[in-house]
Amino acid sequence: MLSVRSYFFAKFYDATMKEVEEACLGAWRAELLAKTAGDVLEIGAGTGVNISYYPPGIRRLILSEPDRNMRERLAQRVEESGIEQATVADSGAELIDFPAASFDCVVSTLVLCSVKDQSASLQEIYRLLRPGGAFFFIEHVLAEDNPRIIRWQKFFNPLWNFMCCGCHLTRDTAEAIRQTGFQTDQLERVIVESAPAVIQSGIMGIAIKPA
Ligand SMILES: C[S@@+](CC[C@H](N)C(=O)[O-])C[C@H]1O[C@@H](n2cnc3c(N)ncnc32)[C@H](O)[C@@H]1O
Repeated sequence: MLSVRSYFFAKFYDATMKEVEEACLGAWRAELLAKTAGDVLEIGAGTGVNISYYPPGIRRLILSEPDRNMRERLAQRVEESGIEQATVADSGAELIDFPAASFDCVVSTLVLCSVKDQSASLQEIYRLLRPGGAFFFIEHVLAEDNPRIIRWQKFFNPLWNFMCCGCHLTRDTAEAIRQTGFQTDQLERVIVESAPAVIQSGIMGIAIKPA
């Protein structure tokens, strides 16, 4: 049953997101990912929307995606991109088979809403980053300071979670990033324009693992 939903989720993901990409996401991806460098890991890379935004100089790019249907499109995009230093992997964010301190940058865009265990995923990102390394993120989150939207998020969460293959509307991801031990001075609250109200509250930025 999940594999049927995941098939359709992957198949229609890019088309569904088109309007939001044009309204804001595309520009945010470009702004953030231009700052990546060195050895880079992306978790939950999906259909590979971020690939075209990485700067040409990065040394190594690991694009990890646990869903088979997403990964097929991802592999196709990697091939089309011609980026030789890019490799596709199949790990979930909770456990990624690399030694500690393997990466200068880790990227997560719209993934921490969907991982099974957010705390374990953030701890894994922290473990994999070198001291001083940077965690780049764009995520939709619990609508801080808006009780009306929070009520809607709680109401729709079970249905949304079912339809969108495990995505949660009610996660306080900014607080979770802080709790993991990252420095979050560059965390910004954003409005995800053109998206349904329950996913308009967003955060983006760069969290640093202390040196
Ligand atoms: C909303 S999509 C975002 C895709 C892509 N990152 C983007 O920005 O368009 C969420 C992605 O998270 C992936 N995902 C779900 N559970 C995951 C997990 N435990 N670890 C890593 N990725 C996961 C899904 O397969 C899906 O590709």
